[in-house]
Amino acid sequence: MHTTVGIIGGGPAGLLLARLLHNEGIDSVVLERRDRTYVEQRQRAGILEQATVDALRNAGAGARLDREGMPHDGIEIRFANRAHRIDFPSLTGGRNVTVYAQTEVVKDLIALQLAEGGPLLFDAQVTSVEGADTATPAVRFIHEGRQQTLSCDYVVGCDGFHGVARNAVPASLRTTYERTYPYSWLGVLAEAPPVYNELIYAHSERGFALASMRSPSVSRLYLQVPNGTDTAAWSDQRIWDELDARFATDSHPGWKLERGPITSKAVLPMRSHVTEPMRYGRVFLAGDAAHIVPPTGAKGLNLAAADVIVLARALARWRTTGSGDLLDTYSDTCLQRVWRAEHFSYFMTTTLHTDPNQSAFETRLQIAQLERVATSPHAAAELAENYTGLPLG
Ligand code: APR
Ligand code: PHB
Repeated sequence: MHTTVGIIGGGPAGLLLARLLHNEGIDSVVLERRDRTYVEQRQRAGILEQATVDALRNAGAGARLDREGMPHDGIEIRFANRAHRIDFPSLTGGRNVTVYAQTEVVKDLIALQLAEGGPLLFDAQVTSVEGADTATPAVRFIHEGRQQTLSCDYVVGCDGFHGVARNAVPASLRTTYERTYPYSWLGVLAEAPPVYNELIYAHSERGFALASMRSPSVSRLYLQVPNGTDTAAWSDQRIWDELDARFATDSHPGWKLERGPITSKAVLPMRSHVTEPMRYGRVFLAGDAAHIVPPTGAKGLNLAAADVIVLARALARWRTTGSGDLLDTYSDTCLQRVWRAEHFSYFMTTTLHTDPNQSAFETRLQIAQLERVATSPHAAAELAENYTGLPLG
């Protein structure tokens, strides 16, 4: 079996790449180790930057997004008993974000790929990538109980943080930058209408909380919890009470969330990770395979999309002109954006969460920083520009 681009992983990075390449007339094969239902139901984030929305639309994957996506022009930040709204368009020259769950993006891209694109194999577990520094790298995988080999012109590892593609870059040439955080998120989905029509990020002495949404009738809520927390320790009642306590603010006395059945609970670790470079020979890394951000800045999916947009352009240029110049600059181009997002995600995370070992002095510094965002248009614009995302150029 031979293809031009072998794509490992059918998450948002792999699926969007396959679609972009299809539109450029470049054939690819996507190998995904899980089954379709699993991939379509895995709960992930849900904020799309303007550039991500534009890319999905341009790729022909924007129809349902345009119908069901919810444009958001701001977020609310709660701290020190106050609520402050950050208005994106006025601070960024008209940019905003769209709330549309990653699971929905994935469903749309899978449907398109199966209808119009090249092969997308589920239950296809990649075991290794070989010959990264040769003209025909090969991907070994197990499908329907058989070991198979896909020979490729290029291989792209879109196989997430736990994938195998990273290992194709020799350890001696790879640098890893990493940070773990001393807290996790308990994320829940609830059949309850969001009370407020924008996201609310809350700093509180009890820990961070975030109110997001999936639709006008489904809320997505998060609580900072200690690492190692067992969801069994969190009854529905305890979750709702804790959310209300963390969101409480004198700006909206008596404010409470609308309660409803909680349909899923999971604990998510918080991690920052970058692997450099994002290319070795004919193997490229994209999305979570190369970098992880903690979810506080809502950057993970958008970074994955940005990587594959840059890569699809580079492969299209190679295909039409024979020039590998954009492939050669792929890693550096992506890493610039990656490190900006790493910094922003770290800033949002460390400013809004309470480290269990944090001193009263450090808490006052967090409040001072949040006061600055609330009172200075420059500080607010810095946050808004990063949140809505830098243009792709
Ligand atoms: N063989 C085949 N597929 C694999 C393998 C393997 N050895 N290892 C992992 N995969 C698949 C996973 O099952 C998953 O579907 O690769 C896919 C990786 O998808 P994601 O983890 O969603 O990563 P990515 O596409 O880069 O998207 C990044 O996902 O984790 C979120 O917050 C993150 O929103 C961001 C987005
Ligand atoms: C989500 O809706 O799941 C979400 C929103 C914003 C974040 C993280 C997650 O910062």
